[in-house]
Amino acid sequence: SLVDKANYRHFMAKEIHEQPEVVGHTLARYVDMATERVALPVKLPFDFNTIQRVNITACGTASYAGFVAKYWFERFARLPVEVDVASEFRYREAPLRKGDLAIFISQSGETADTLAALRYAKAEGAHTVAVVNVPTSTIARESETVLQTLAGPEIGVASTKAFTCQLMVLANLAIAAGKARGELSDEDEAKLVHGLVEVPRLMADALTTELQIEKLAHRIAKSSDVLYLGRGTSFPLALEGALKLKEISYIHAEGYAAGELKHGPIALIDETMPVVVIAPHDRVFEKTVSNMQEVAARGGNIILMTDAKGAEEATVESLVTIVMPDMSAAFTPMVYAVPVQLLAYHTAVVMGTDVDQPRNLAKSVTVE
Ligand code: G6P
Repeated sequence: SLVDKANYRHFMAKEIHEQPEVVGHTLARYVDMATERVALPVKLPFDFNTIQRVNITACGTASYAGFVAKYWFERFARLPVEVDVASEFRYREAPLRKGDLAIFISQSGETADTLAALRYAKAEGAHTVAVVNVPTSTIARESETVLQTLAGPEIGVASTKAFTCQLMVLANLAIAAGKARGELSDEDEAKLVHGLVEVPRLMADALTTELQIEKLAHRIAKSSDVLYLGRGTSFPLALEGALKLKEISYIHAEGYAAGELKHGPIALIDETMPVVVIAPHDRVFEKTVSNMQEVAARGGNIILMTDAKGAEEATVESLVTIVMPDMSAAFTPMVYAVPVQLLAYHTAVVMGTDVDQPRNLAKSVTVE
């Protein structure tokens, strides 16, 4: 067949491992590699200077890509962003200003709720951009501008490579917005783009954590609940980590903003509770460490994903520390997605679930 599992046991494993390559292809489509400047493949039919607000709408994993992008648009372009799941956005009759920007993210380009949200935004007079993996899809056809992800066919029901390719496209769009709005200088742009150019290699490095994660998966497989924590762009990744684990291993998991721990989930923590902390050594690292201390004080089992510097400075005992490569703090979600996906994958393999086709789920949800 056109798409096979190569030497992998599941499509999901193959798709996780393909990421350095397909994220690299996507990067090359959105960046001029010679000058390391953003070079969008299409001309945008609007000026970021006249946009006052961006609405990002999607479902599932794609909505978490949008949530990461919110941090990027707000930081690089000082542009306020609202993120919605499509099933809420479409019925809320959210007021959109004519000429503002609405972004729709979808691997398949066929998700019914996302399509309905797109039609609503168009009717309200918003500019519409679709970040889609299937260029012939309905969402691609009906939106004003299409920014394609070059993930290639994704077969595993749980999205992996489409997610990281969505992030790559959105990072470039956010940098372009920052440039257009005068919030980023040429030098800022060069630095950020350089950070993006490094991502595929760093994702390949991140794949080397696999053996360690496979071992850890045997521990996780014995748990009935897992908590994922993160701050900043690691917060949406914590949500994605929890989603991945529950959809393919059927273990209950929850993602939380690390700073919200004390407002509820801390009550759940005891010696049986694994807590995955996604904490690259970025500007909120210290804050996350203090949340980890709260977890450790209650006997929670910390699984820390951080870099060498973070591992050295985290003065908290963890069950396992997964040491990630050093990198530009802005783009950690693409690289930390790798161990997050591997953990869900290997846990599901230990549990013996149908990894590529989990019960009750569909690859593309074309009905409400
Ligand atoms: C389904 C899939 C998810 C996916 C979501 C959105 O629920 O199981 O993996 O994230 O749909 O799909 P889309 O094609 O719109 O990205």
